[in-house]
Amino acid sequence: MNELAGKHIVLGLSGGVACYKSAELCRLLIKEGATVQVVMTEAAEHFMTPITMQALSGRTVYGSQWDAREPNHMPHINLSREADAIVVAPCSADFVARLAQGRADELLSLLCLARPQNSVPLLLAPAMNREMWAHPATQRNLAQVAQDGALVLGVGHGDQACGETGDGRMLEATELLEEVLAFFTPKRLAGQRVLITAGPTFEAIDPVRGITNHSSGKMGFAIARAAREAGAEVTLIAGPVHLPTPRGVQRINVQSAQNMLAAVVERAQAATIFIATAAVADWRPAAPSEQKIKKDGSGQMPVLHFVENPDILATVAQSPHALVGDLFCVGFAAESHDLLAHATAKRARKGVPLLVGNIGPATFGRDDNALLLLDAQGHRELPPASKRVLGQQLVEEIAARLPQPLTSH
Ligand code: CTP
Repeated sequence: MNELAGKHIVLGLSGGVACYKSAELCRLLIKEGATVQVVMTEAAEHFMTPITMQALSGRTVYGSQWDAREPNHMPHINLSREADAIVVAPCSADFVARLAQGRADELLSLLCLARPQNSVPLLLAPAMNREMWAHPATQRNLAQVAQDGALVLGVGHGDQACGETGDGRMLEATELLEEVLAFFTPKRLAGQRVLITAGPTFEAIDPVRGITNHSSGKMGFAIARAAREAGAEVTLIAGPVHLPTPRGVQRINVQSAQNMLAAVVERAQAATIFIATAAVADWRPAAPSEQKIKKDGSGQMPVLHFVENPDILATVAQSPHALVGDLFCVGFAAESHDLLAHATAKRARKGVPLLVGNIGPATFGRDDNALLLLDAQGHRELPPASKRVLGQQLVEEIAARLPQPLTSH
């Protein structure tokens, strides 16, 4: 929360049904601590009244370059100079065309043109019918505005207001907020390819039963999100959890420890950072039954035999790729007591440069946690905070420990 404290956003609305999502986006930006100045085109006012946006933003909306409230009669200069970013959502096909041409005959396009390019970024959230989206003119204009320095966000796929189905829906307000937060995050992991395991594993006993644990996957998902925001390409290998995939993260769902190992090994060679947050089951039934095991009337539970699962982290940390220093490995330790002693021993046993300890029962399923970081230099605590904040802090800590590329003179 409050991740946008101190930031001032000009939220521009051009014409489109998606204006209703911008009302929610305005609320979300303000909840994160930003101040928001709404600017609407005349077309946008056919879809949403300025009064609604005024009520949500707490500021009167601007719609005309002739607005007499500005003593110097230059709202395009005043509004664009104050902004930390201009976000146009929805950005209609017509508005993209105006930007591509550098038009300046109404306030929103005028202030986009008049913004200082180096200090005031422009983010565009396109919204239009699928045929308009696919039209070469639109794609040409989008490529042009991107080349001119705008950040063109993606579009969603699905049912459209016109009754058709396809690409061109504006992203949801929560997705746009994630994009804005990502935009403001320093790119400490630019160029890195991060592989993360998260959640529990599920070890089948028979087709309807299995063994699993209380890991929610929240810490691993928070790290995946923070790593992507910091500029990394992120692949998340997730055990069975019901969490939404962070934006821009490639997710691969797996069930058992063996599935997880296979998915990890396949991708570890291409990665530069491996973070093992998954609570992998240590044991699996030796011979899962292909049919449901039925009660036999004896009152006795059938005897199950177990075999040890592969240690995914140790396997990756001992691979040639990691041993030559091309893959930075981070392990987690979920302990119930004596965290420092157990985590110190675990770091040595797993052979990883950084191990992150936490008290498992205190954090499983919760939104907050506290972490103990252990590396060759010693240990330090990351005090209790939300998993979101801890994920961001951990990404910073990892970035600071990465081998520095050799600089050529
Ligand atoms: N881990 C793994 N594969 C396993 C077991 C653990 O990749 N089969 C990883 C976890 O993702 C975590 C770290 O190893 O990063 C430590 O996991 P933990 O279960 O705490 O440790 P164990 O090795 O199982 O040790 P112990 O059971 O003695 O606590």
